[in-house]
Amino acid sequence: MNPVWFLVGGGTAGLALLVYWQMIVAEGTYLGPRVVAWTYDLVASRYDDIKQFNPRDESWFVAGPLLRALDGVERPLVLDVATGTGRLPLALLREHLAARGGRIAGLDLSPGMLRRARAKLRLHGDAVRLIRHDASRLPFEDGTFDAVTCLESLEFMPRPQAVLREMVRVLAPGGVLLVTNRVGAEARFLPGRALARPHFQALMEALPLREVEIRPWQASYDLSTARKEGAARPPGSGVRDPLLLLLCPACGGRLARAGTGLACPGCTRHYALDDGIADLVIARERIGT
Ligand SMILES: C[S@@+](CC[C@H](N)C(=O)[O-])C[C@H]1O[C@@H](n2cnc3c(N)ncnc32)[C@H](O)[C@@H]1O
Repeated sequence: MNPVWFLVGGGTAGLALLVYWQMIVAEGTYLGPRVVAWTYDLVASRYDDIKQFNPRDESWFVAGPLLRALDGVERPLVLDVATGTGRLPLALLREHLAARGGRIAGLDLSPGMLRRARAKLRLHGDAVRLIRHDASRLPFEDGTFDAVTCLESLEFMPRPQAVLREMVRVLAPGGVLLVTNRVGAEARFLPGRALARPHFQALMEALPLREVEIRPWQASYDLSTARKEGAARPPGSGVRDPLLLLLCPACGGRLARAGTGLACPGCTRHYALDDGIADLVIARERIGT
């Protein structure tokens, strides 16, 4: 074969493999959070069909155990990081989180995924709030939530360990953390993102967490639960609307309702509340300009 064609063919195949790895296997994670969010925007309308979640499994393996771990907490407040199309909020609401007076905030960077979540969760009214923001800095005060969850997403974040620390930061003392870690064959192609089991275990134990449990869940994921150190907050310490617990990404001030959106009394920035989705990303972009 002509060596030029050999080089061109080899180069093209190499490039195709690189693109396949970056965009399909790694879902854009090495190209930054905005690329990941964009890839999820592209698949948002088909995501649930692709995943084929089984409501009974979701209740049995995730929502039920989480709610049992929250027994004794009146009106629990839950944060689902990288909520996607609202899988976990939906499972918790099916298991009567709202009947217990609980509320849930779902945070994601992909507007497309959040719009799907909104459509599915509309029936549940303000029991669930949706927030567009990057998980690497959670816009809440320390110790805000009784439970913080993150399913099938940590491996798509540039610094999964830092996101875990953020999740523990916003968890109340005695609160419950529920996260997945990517395992299996494809995890080998996500260096620095999917953590080897012993590394993940060590990381969880190094956080201020107790009762760390890691167990195989699906072929590609381990499921881990743990509790933040410290005593659980007194019952009835009061659920509030998660939207009114949001902090301004620019100055850290507490946001308040203003007209059809949210505003920061400190720096006067406004944030859109579009069809019930609080968008805290646009304002962050403006800050950098
Ligand atoms: C595989 S989906 C999982 C969604 C949902 N947790 C579930 O189990 O169905 C990954 C989600 O992570 C979100 N995501 C990825 N990187 C993010 C980031 N840095 N901040 C917020 N969300 C992010 C994506 O937009 C996507 O919705």
